[in-house]
Amino acid sequence: MKSKTPYESNSDHLSPNRNIAPITTEINDEGALVIGGCDLPTLASRYGTPLYILDELTLRATCRGYIKALKNHYKGSSLPLYASKANSSLVLSKLVSSEGFGLDVVSEGELITALESGVKGEDIFLHGNNKSIEELSLAYDNDVTVVVDNNHDLDCLEEIVSSKPARLMLRLTPGIECHTHEYIKTGHLDSKFGFDPDQFEEVLLRLKNAPWARLTGLHAHIGSQIFELQPHRDLAVVLADALKLARDFGHPVDDLNVGGGLGIRYIKEDDPPSIDEWVAVISRSLEEACMERKLELPRLICEPGRSLVATAGVTLYRLGSRKVIPGIRTYLSVDGGMSDNPRPITYQSLYTACLAEAPLASGVETVTIAGKHCESGDVVIKRLELPPSKSGDVLVVFSTGAYNSSMSSNYNRIPRPATVMVQNGQSDLVQRREVPEDLIRLDVLPSRFGAVK
Ligand code: LLP
Repeated sequence: MKSKTPYESNSDHLSPNRNIAPITTEINDEGALVIGGCDLPTLASRYGTPLYILDELTLRATCRGYIKALKNHYKGSSLPLYASKANSSLVLSKLVSSEGFGLDVVSEGELITALESGVKGEDIFLHGNNKSIEELSLAYDNDVTVVVDNNHDLDCLEEIVSSKPARLMLRLTPGIECHTHEYIKTGHLDSKFGFDPDQFEEVLLRLKNAPWARLTGLHAHIGSQIFELQPHRDLAVVLADALKLARDFGHPVDDLNVGGGLGIRYIKEDDPPSIDEWVAVISRSLEEACMERKLELPRLICEPGRSLVATAGVTLYRLGSRKVIPGIRTYLSVDGGMSDNPRPITYQSLYTACLAEAPLASGVETVTIAGKHCESGDVVIKRLELPPSKSGDVLVVFSTGAYNSSMSSNYNRIPRPATVMVQNGQSDLVQRREVPEDLIRLDVLPSRFGAVK
C-alpha cells in the first residue's frame, strides 16, 4: 500500500466537497482502488452490483468541517441540519445526528426515518410546498418545527393544533438568482416555494393574532450545486431585513435558516468553494447585516444536503456489452443506469469514473457508458477515457452519495441497489438490495384475472 489517487484534488480533509473521491481512497499493492480500507473489486463480488458505497470517514469529516467552520466564523449559536432528501436512511440520520446535526425532512417518509433513527423532534424541521395533514400532524405530535411554505400550511395547522402551540418557521422566496440548473433553482421569484416578499407582512400579522402558533424562525434556500458565494452573501442580508420586520411585529424569532446549496466537485473542472469559505461568507454577511440593523444575532441554521454526502459515495457497476459504431462512438453498457442515477438524464449532470482494478491506467479509448434501461437517453457518462476493459470489469463512478439512492426508481422493474458503508477495512450493509419479489409485492391482482401462479 498505498499511493494517492488522481481523484483527490486538495488536502483539506474538512472540505471533502472539493474532492472527487472519498478522503480514504487509496490504491493497494495489486493496483486496485480501496475506499474505507475495503478494496472495491472484493466489495463488488461480495455484495453484487450495482452497489452504492458510503465512506464513513468522509461523512464524518464533512460533518466536522461544517461544525468547526460554524464555531470558528459565527459569533452567535448555530445548528447545522442535514437535508435528508440528498440520501435518507436510518444509518445516515444516526451518523449525522451523532456528529451534532439536526435534520431537514420533506415528507412523512423522511420524517419517520429521522424519528425512527432516534433524532429528537426538536432537532427536525419539516419542509414542503404541499404538506399533507398526516405529515403536519406527525410533525406537530413530535415537536418538529414546521417550515411554513404558504397559507395552506397555516390553514391545516390551525385545524390540527390542540394544547401546545406549533413551532413554526416561515419560508421566504428571497428573489435571488444563482447560476445552476433551472430545475434546482429555488430562490428566484418565479418559484413554487415560500412566501413572496409582498405576502410577508400579511402573514406576520396573521401569526401575531394566532395564539396557536409560535413563530421561531425564518428560512430561505436559493438553489443547489452553487459555486458562487455572492448569492449567499445577498441571502444573509435579505434574511436580516426579514428578521427585523418579524421582530418588529413582536415575534420571538431567534432562528435564521439560510438553506443549503454549496456545490461539489463532480469533475476535474468543477471548483466549488470550501465548506469553510461558504460558512465564513454567510457568517460575516449575517453578522454585518445584523449589526447595521441593531439586531441581536440569531441562531444560524444551515441545511446542506449534497455537500454533506455526495463525495462520500461511489457506485460500482459491472461492464457488460460493448457496441462499436465505427467513426461515431463506442458504447459500454453497465448493469444499472438511470434507475439508480437519474441525474444525467434529468440535469445533464457529468460524472467521473475509472476501472476499480486499474484506476491509474491511461485511457486508450473514449467510450460512452450506457445504462441498461430501455431509453436512449440512459447514459451515465457521455465521454470517458478508459484503459483496455472487458465485460465483467468493475466501473467506479464517483460522487454519487447525494441524489442517487434518494432519487432512484424501479423503471423497467430494475431492483434498487444495496448500500454498503465502509470504514477501517470493515463493510456493513446499510440498505439491502431489492429483489424481484419486492417489485411485485405491491401489485394487486383482482380475482377475476385468475389466481397468481
Ligand atoms: N434546503 C432546502 C429547502 C432544499 O430545497 C434543498 C435542496 C436543500 C436544503 C439542500 O440543498 P443542497 O445542499 O443539497 O444543495 N435533485 C437535485 C437537487 C435538488 C435539491 C432540492 N433541494 C440534484 O440531483 O441535483
